[in-house]
Amino acid sequence: MKFQVPRGTADVFFEEAELWNYIEQTSKEIFKRYNYKEIRTPIFEYTELFQRGVGETTDIVEKEMYTFTDRGGRSLTLRPEGTASVVRAFVEHKLYANPDPTKLYYIGPMFRYERPQSGRMRQFTQVGVEVLGSSDPAIDAEVISLAIRIFEEMGLTNLRLELNSVGCPVCRPLHREKLVTHLHGVKEKLCKDCQSRLERNPMRVLDCKNETCQEVTKDAPTIDQHLCEDCKSHHEKVKAYLDQMGIEYVENPRLVRGLDYYTQTAFEIISKDIGAVGTICGGGRYNGLVAEIGGNDVPGIGFAFSLERVALALKEKGIDLKLAKGIDVYFVTTGEKADSVSMKILDDLRKAGIKAEKDYLGRKMKAQMKAADRLQAKYVLILGDDEFESKKVILRDMASGEQQEVSFDDIIPVLTSKLR
Ligand code: HAM
Repeated sequence: MKFQVPRGTADVFFEEAELWNYIEQTSKEIFKRYNYKEIRTPIFEYTELFQRGVGETTDIVEKEMYTFTDRGGRSLTLRPEGTASVVRAFVEHKLYANPDPTKLYYIGPMFRYERPQSGRMRQFTQVGVEVLGSSDPAIDAEVISLAIRIFEEMGLTNLRLELNSVGCPVCRPLHREKLVTHLHGVKEKLCKDCQSRLERNPMRVLDCKNETCQEVTKDAPTIDQHLCEDCKSHHEKVKAYLDQMGIEYVENPRLVRGLDYYTQTAFEIISKDIGAVGTICGGGRYNGLVAEIGGNDVPGIGFAFSLERVALALKEKGIDLKLAKGIDVYFVTTGEKADSVSMKILDDLRKAGIKAEKDYLGRKMKAQMKAADRLQAKYVLILGDDEFESKKVILRDMASGEQQEVSFDDIIPVLTSKLR
């Protein structure tokens, strides 16, 4: 019997894992600069959190959640996204007691039962932020610019920022009514999914990727014509801040996002380099979510992107990560006496911060030298029984081929100065 990873999941190792680390480290460094603190929430939550938070009529809740009953009979769900959990934690731990806005970031796996393809996985890793406690449009601009900052510093170009306001409970009903009337007129031509969305979540029809749906809804009323004064003014201010910061965006009045909690600002960042699943980042404001989850009336905004999609975009660009390739020293030993001190010397090298490796397969010297080549060692230390007697090693510079003898005591200082 041979095992494989479950469909829609992947093993990540070697260069891919380095790339992931690079994305995580770059993000964390920038989060610090913007004063965001880390939060880690459980991988599973009570199912009801997502039903309420993400919304009963979303694709995620209707058909994509990994839900199971535990041995105590509770319904639990592997988190399909991070926002609902962060908001739950915000309320549960009374983080709202803090007089300042709460600015959080998270990195971790999410789970959705989707049809897998390149950039769309059933387990994927999101990097996200959430800001709770401010409805200032400047925070919208900060959150959007933070996402852009991260991608720019990683060297991603060819991005498109799409921006919309999805309104609020004041202005949405009017738009919804007009939209539903319009959609009923073309109902027969809509795809099956949209026919059902029409009844339960009509705004989602505008976002359908099906070409016929896009064609027949081309003249459907969009939210921008129906925003209330508050939403309109908020949207204008967000755009003015982005303009000041020189952040380019495209207004897309059909952008509605796949989660129900959004109010006002909604945005996506699309990489023009990675084809079908080009959206590498999505986010927006959610002013009603905290109350929906049992807290007070606290506004929020955030975004998330996945390591999978950003890694694809980086690879597509052929970005040179300047990852530290190769090791500093390969320690070649022959003979029992040399072996007897090899672990101690290797340990000293590593304690001194030198990236070092040795043979663990009892190979002959020639094979050990080949291993040193494969590992791109800058130097090789050779210790045989003769050298052992004189308490010396041979230090070989792999680039020039030059060799010198170095006494045991001098190994660290000599190597340290050469490597500097
Ligand atoms: P979302 O648009 O569902 O939003 O996901 C955000 C990002 O996660 C996407 O743009 C994409 O990069 C990545 N992503 C989503 N599904 C997959 C998948 N199956 N495979 C690989 N990557 C995927 C949210 O999740 C919101 N919680 C974002 C947010 C935070 N809004 C406010 N705060």
